[in-house]
Amino acid sequence: MKKSFGPKALIFPTPVWCVASYDADGKANVMTVAWGGICCSSPACLGISIRKATHSYGNIMHSKAFTVNVPSKSQAKAADYFGMVSGKSHNKFIETGLTPIRANHVNAPFIKEFPMILECNVIHSYEIGLHTQIIGEIMDVRVDESALDADGMPDIIKVNPFLYVPETCSYTSIGTETWKAFDISLIKKE
Ligand SMILES: Cc1cc2nc3c(=O)[nH]c(=O)nc-3n(C[C@H](O)[C@H](O)[C@H](O)COP(=O)(O)O)c2cc1C
Repeated sequence: MKKSFGPKALIFPTPVWCVASYDADGKANVMTVAWGGICCSSPACLGISIRKATHSYGNIMHSKAFTVNVPSKSQAKAADYFGMVSGKSHNKFIETGLTPIRANHVNAPFIKEFPMILECNVIHSYEIGLHTQIIGEIMDVRVDESALDADGMPDIIKVNPFLYVPETCSYTSIGTETWKAFDISLIKKE
């Protein structure tokens, strides 16, 4: 038997992304987003869903750009803080000691200390309800060299992102292993 939870925004896993933007005065801000994911391969795009009440909403609609900054588990405290106070009344970069750097390809800052950065230009937005989904075309992905594998590809274990768990409002770690996808031999072995 499965227990029904009704129509809830409840699915595993959701990411922990720190979305950074400039306000109209050029001040860097950052908020945490769990309602997000890749939504197109070509052009490479991701979607984030944010409430109009956030400072970031106005920033991103004005600048038409944002960055997604993937924190490591060791940076969870800052990521959590970014999701608890608003840039309307806080300078979250000064308060956490993290460094905003102007992105190379879009009009938004990225967080120097975070291991993985995606620079996005806004190409669509959809009013859904409480949240507006903003589609960002990914203009560049940059990963710290220390978080690359032997083949020079981003290594999820080294980036060590962590996940948000809806409903229980908690975080969880990723595992410690990876295995090949698109591998028909896996099902044949069963
Ligand atoms: C783990 C976590 C996930 C969050 N996910 C979202 C989200 O997906 N969309 C959203 O609008 N707010 C989300 N929030 C809340 C915002 O990050 C929060 O309202 C933040 O203070 C907004 O900052 P700003 O006003 O400076 O833009 C989340 C907060 C946390 C801690």
